[in-house]
Amino acid sequence: MSEVLLGVDKLGAGYGDMAVLLDMSFEVRQGEIVSLVGSNGAGKTTLMRALSGLLPRKGSIRFAGSEISGMAAERIFSLGLVQVPEGRQLFGQMSVLDNLLMGAYLCRDKKEEKRRLERVFELFPILQERRSQRAGVFSGGEQQMIAIARALMAEPRLLMVDEMSLGLAPVIVDKLLDALVAIRDERGVTVLLVEQDVFSAFSIADRGYVLELGKIVREGNAEELVEDPEVRRAYLGI
Ligand SMILES: Nc1ncnc2c1ncn2[C@@H]1O[C@H](COP(=O)(O)OP(=O)(O)OP(=O)(O)O)[C@@H](O)[C@H]1O
Ligand SMILES: [Mg+2]
Repeated sequence: MSEVLLGVDKLGAGYGDMAVLLDMSFEVRQGEIVSLVGSNGAGKTTLMRALSGLLPRKGSIRFAGSEISGMAAERIFSLGLVQVPEGRQLFGQMSVLDNLLMGAYLCRDKKEEKRRLERVFELFPILQERRSQRAGVFSGGEQQMIAIARALMAEPRLLMVDEMSLGLAPVIVDKLLDALVAIRDERGVTVLLVEQDVFSAFSIADRGYVLELGKIVREGNAEELVEDPEVRRAYLGI
C-alpha cells in the first residue's frame, strides 16, 4: 500500500467555544481519491478550513511528513495542501488569467508559471479561449473549472475540493469528476473530495468516510459505502 500523505488524529475544531469537529481521525494515502460525505452542517467546510490552517485546531495533522497542526495557512499551502473552497471564491471582476495566476503566487519563475498555465489549459481548453474574460461572467460549472484550475496552478500534492457539485447540473458534475480523475491519473495529485452528494462523491473514490455532527461514523471502500443500508437510508432516502 502507498504511504500516508495526510494523517489526521483526534482533530478538534470549532468556532469560539462551540466545538464542531470532535476527535476526528482519518487518513489519505498518496495517489488515492478519498471522498468524505456528510449532510448540511456536518462539519465538512470546517474540516477543510481546519486542515488548511484557517481555524484554530487541536490534535495532530501530519502532511507529507510534517506536523502541520501548528502551522500558519500560508506555510501549509506552500507544502502543497491546497483547497478549492466551497462557493469557489473567485475574483469575479478579474480575468480568468489573473485568477489562475493567483494560484501560482508563490512561483517566482515566469517560465514555470507559463508551463503550469499550459498544463491547466490542456485540462480545460475553454479557459484558454476565454482567458481574458472576467471570471464573474462564466457559468457555475465553468467557474468551478476556474477554481480547480487556480488550485492546480499551485502544483498541489493534495487537492481538497469542497462541495464541487453544489448547484450544478449532473452532466456538468460528471465532467468535473472526470477532470478530478485525470488530475489524479495523469498528474499524480492525491484528491480529497468533500461532498453532500453521495453518489457523485463515491463514484470516483477509492475509499470514503461518512461524517455526522463532526464525527466519522462510517468508513470503507467507496463501493461498499454506497451499498451500506444506513448510508442509503440517511443520504439517499432509499
Ligand atoms: N463562522 C462560523 N461561526 C460559527 N459557527 C459556524 C461558522 N461556520 C460554520 N459554523 C457552524 O459549524 C457547523 C458546521 O458547519 P460547516 O459549514 O462546517 O458544515 P458543512 O458540512 O460544510 O455544511 P454544508 O453542507 O451546508 O456546507 C454548523 O453548525 C455551522 O452552523
Ligand atoms: Mg460546507
